[in-house]
Amino acid sequence: MKKTKLWGGRFSKKTHPLVEEFTKSIHFDKKLAEYDCIGSLYHIFILKKAGLLTQNEFNKLFKGLQEIFDEIKKGHFKIDESFEDIHSYIQHLLEIKKGIGKVAFKLHTCRSRNDQIAFDTKLYCHEKTNVICELLIKLQKTIIQLANENNKIVIPGYTHLQHAIPISLQEYLFAYCKMLNRDTERLFNAKKNINLTLGAGALAGTLIQSANYNIAATKSLPNSIKPTSNSIDAVSDRDFVIEILSALSIIGMHLSRLSEDMILWASKEFDFIDIDDAFCTGSSLMPNKKNPDVLELVRGYSGQLYGNLVSVLVTMKGLPLAYNRDMQLDKEPLFSSFEIIQESLKVLAELFKNISFKRENIARQLDDESLYATDISDYLVKNKVPFKEAHTIVGNLIRHKYKVGKELCEMEDGELQRFHKLLTSKIINVIINPQTSVKSKKSVRKVKRS
Ligand code: ARG
Repeated sequence: MKKTKLWGGRFSKKTHPLVEEFTKSIHFDKKLAEYDCIGSLYHIFILKKAGLLTQNEFNKLFKGLQEIFDEIKKGHFKIDESFEDIHSYIQHLLEIKKGIGKVAFKLHTCRSRNDQIAFDTKLYCHEKTNVICELLIKLQKTIIQLANENNKIVIPGYTHLQHAIPISLQEYLFAYCKMLNRDTERLFNAKKNINLTLGAGALAGTLIQSANYNIAATKSLPNSIKPTSNSIDAVSDRDFVIEILSALSIIGMHLSRLSEDMILWASKEFDFIDIDDAFCTGSSLMPNKKNPDVLELVRGYSGQLYGNLVSVLVTMKGLPLAYNRDMQLDKEPLFSSFEIIQESLKVLAELFKNISFKRENIARQLDDESLYATDISDYLVKNKVPFKEAHTIVGNLIRHKYKVGKELCEMEDGELQRFHKLLTSKIINVIINPQTSVKSKKSVRKVKRS
């Protein structure tokens, strides 16, 4: 059967090859093939309910679509990229299938690609958000395991990237789990906001009674769908794409911060961790180098993720209702962001199984007595010294320590008590201890994690 367009009749001339090339989308919307088939399956159920297909016609179309769907699922599906888009291609495949014949021409009854593409993209988002949520949970589990295996380690806590107060490494890593938790919820909510509807037609609705668009999930139809409640909005709306791109951007931001921390910790200056050789790369010139390229790329990809979000926001901002072809340009950014996050999560989950902590190097940093300044002032506060006074006293003491170049632990009572009578050598030596410092912080509600 001849290859025909879905819209050829109105035109007296062949489309210019440059226009064909410029307007086509099959080279990227081929990713939607399986969702397009599922969308068509919903559609034939609707057509049958509406009396626009006989049982026999329905059976033929159902069988044809199922066969195409199976081929896609088995990975045997060959795409002819000379077609305009995935919708035209699947329509063509049905037309050339044995035993279907002209019935295939009925598939597009009361349907427009404007509604079809929105629906396909929504189904794609449904499935992909599930994949990402699972990967988020996997990474979280790996981090929790790493945190639990190293639950005795105390590290210097930083603010402004300056030594602040000792903290538990476990809690530090759990902070990332909190972020990943919110990410899963955010993505899940974005998925919940997706309205799976049909019936918009091109923009005005179709002649089919809305009740016929109520389709319950079955073995061949993965979700229940509803008739659209506003056909213009249904074909104009890309909020769901933007919400998902935004959720993916936030995940990317979290993964970037996580990577940045590990990159810093792997540097000679920190030297807190070792990342297994299998997860690092080298330099073509400097034989000594072992670089954390995976982490750098995860950090770097946040640029593309934000770019993808901004690109769709800008594409949508000036569009009049309803469908405009500009909207075709939402697909590549959407696919790209899903892929970036999927691959980043996969590789990070493995990389985190291959990080080891260098306890001695970390412990050396904890010798910095300034880390315990807050603990000394807490001690004074517990002994009724007003906080502001305690703050100044300990500030002066630290200034003195740097001025004379001495360790607080080595100062005699006389020298310490110049700052406050309660500050004895014995007390200072008890306070300056990483484990004691961490244990003395009680305001945080302990959550059981497994
Ligand atoms: N390829 C288009 C997109 O991705 C779908 C078809 C749009 N409809 C049309 N009348 N050109 O948005």
